[in-house]
Amino acid sequence: MTRYSLAVLPGDGIGPEVTAEAVRVLQAAADLFGFGLEAAEYAVGAAGVAEDGDSLPKRTADAVVDVDAVLLGAVGHPSLATAEGRLRPEAGLLALRKLLGAYANLRPAAVHPALRHASPLRPERLEGVDLLIVRELLGGLYYGQPRALEAETAVNTMRYTVPEIERVARVAFEAARGRRRLVTSVDKANVLEVSQLWRETVSRVGAEYPDVRLEHLYVDYAAMRLVAQPAAIDVLLTENLFGDILSDEAAVLTGSLGLLPSASIGDGPGLFEPVHGSAPDIAGRNVANPLGAIASVAMLLRYGLGQREAADRVDQAVAEVLTAGARTADIARPGEATVTTRQMGERVAALVLGAAVA
Ligand code: IPM
Ligand code: MN
Repeated sequence: MTRYSLAVLPGDGIGPEVTAEAVRVLQAAADLFGFGLEAAEYAVGAAGVAEDGDSLPKRTADAVVDVDAVLLGAVGHPSLATAEGRLRPEAGLLALRKLLGAYANLRPAAVHPALRHASPLRPERLEGVDLLIVRELLGGLYYGQPRALEAETAVNTMRYTVPEIERVARVAFEAARGRRRLVTSVDKANVLEVSQLWRETVSRVGAEYPDVRLEHLYVDYAAMRLVAQPAAIDVLLTENLFGDILSDEAAVLTGSLGLLPSASIGDGPGLFEPVHGSAPDIAGRNVANPLGAIASVAMLLRYGLGQREAADRVDQAVAEVLTAGARTADIARPGEATVTTRQMGERVAALVLGAAVA
């Protein structure tokens, strides 16, 4: 039997609750498709600071480079919001992405027909929305040097090299080949030199993919297009900070940030996590939506383990559970009955195994 090793990093806030459900569904998929899982848990974020005084403890860092895939919940804690250096939970996540060489962040956003009511957009604008954001994850302002915070001045640096742009662009063009064959590259080339290099480089890579259409948009216009004509976007390729912002915007179109998964892939094991944060306000109450974490398991199966059929099965189970009417609080209509985090996970796991929804 094929066996895979996994590092599970539940993290903070609702991270542990949603991750437990994601692991439940992953185990169901493994049982059905006949492969084994060795999953061990490690601390990250505020949980890492509590365990080891570091948002990415050495024990975690040593483990993640040696597994087949990494599943993460969420990081962030109000008590550490103004902490410095490696005591910041977010710093642990950034260090983890870097350590794994995870330069391409894939964030799909599609609207399930049963959830149109939860979207802030009019239903007719949601027709045909199915997009994939490919966000560069290891460059730009997040990592650029120099950086500094002084009393009167602060500095961050947006820096990209041609190879950094090329490798993430290739991920976007390859992804487009399995979709509607359109790449929308987003930059600010009317102002930023970095964006001029971005545009030139993406165009050059695009020439290697004559079967994929390439368009360039300025980021301000792209932000507008996402709400005005979201169905006109297939693969949206952009740099780190623009991608951070636009992926939250895309997420809200689908009705809830709680639904969306992500995959961060590159040189090492892939990192799979829901797009949402640690949501400290609802943590520990068994009300969070685990579907973003569960859909991240589908991405883990697809991109991390190459188990495509199992991935399809999990995606399908998520769609079915929504069709069947299961709703956590974030996607329920006013007055509609809700299920808990755990009940949602159990239902999806049952659907993966082919059982009827209770
Ligand atoms: C995300 C998050 C992170 C980011 C934070 C927590 C550092 O917002 O994954 O989108 O900005 O990349
Ligand atoms: Mn973000």
